[in-house]
Amino acid sequence: MSNDAYTLASEAAAALKSAAGLDTFDVALVMGSGWVPAADALGETVADIPFTELPGFRAPAVAGHGGKIRVVRTEQGRHALVFLGRSHLYEGRGVDSVVHGVRTAAAAGVRTVVLTNAAGGLRPETQKVGDPVLISDHINMTGANPITGTTFIDLTEVYSRRLRTLVHEIDPSIAEGVYVAFRGPTYETPAEIRMLRTLGGDMIGMSTVLEAIAAREAGLDVLGISLVTNPGAGLSGDPLNHEEVLEVGRVTATRMGILLAKVVDRL
Ligand code: HPA
Repeated sequence: MSNDAYTLASEAAAALKSAAGLDTFDVALVMGSGWVPAADALGETVADIPFTELPGFRAPAVAGHGGKIRVVRTEQGRHALVFLGRSHLYEGRGVDSVVHGVRTAAAAGVRTVVLTNAAGGLRPETQKVGDPVLISDHINMTGANPITGTTFIDLTEVYSRRLRTLVHEIDPSIAEGVYVAFRGPTYETPAEIRMLRTLGGDMIGMSTVLEAIAAREAGLDVLGISLVTNPGAGLSGDPLNHEEVLEVGRVTATRMGILLAKVVDRL
């Protein structure tokens, strides 16, 4: 990480507070592809702030990834920063761009971040398309890390056990799994999917791990949830496509939105 990246996040946080007319926020949620439709269930919109109005953000390149921060007031009166869209490593804007949202949220006073994503399921024996899976741990195969230098951050419990327990209390049927991240933007080959199953992965995607690392560096509690949108390449015989990923998100939006709303109000 460069000092510049932190400074930029502080500037973005100041701009965000002034645009929202609020001094602090309780939680941030990063809505991955397939999750954007679920945002509507979180509460009343206080402000919609386009990424382009905040230092260091740029409009996302991918369809289905939105492009703004929505400030939401939940039923219990909490204030959530809802990131409708995120930056990915495969977009080529560098790792600081990928974690800028999380750093901005931390600089704005947030102590908890909920990272959502769409993922391929590596265990079709037990996972159904459209099911949410709590991320219990990750394997970072992006080859990148948001931290540069001699800051040795402990990653023993990246995804908070306390927050996972809370989700299980809300919905005991939700499974847990290990999320593997590749850089993308290609989907995986069937041989890579077999490798990842052997390595102990349960879901495969192209996001989340770098944001989770940056969040831990900033001392935030992290909750990670994958929406399984397809079996991993070669496991079903069907080719993969981004439209299918978005469609599963649309179909499951209400369930995921209700789940997230309950989580946020019990933090
Ligand atoms: N692989 C990688 N990323 C994904 C997938 C997948 O199968 N599905 C949704 N995002």
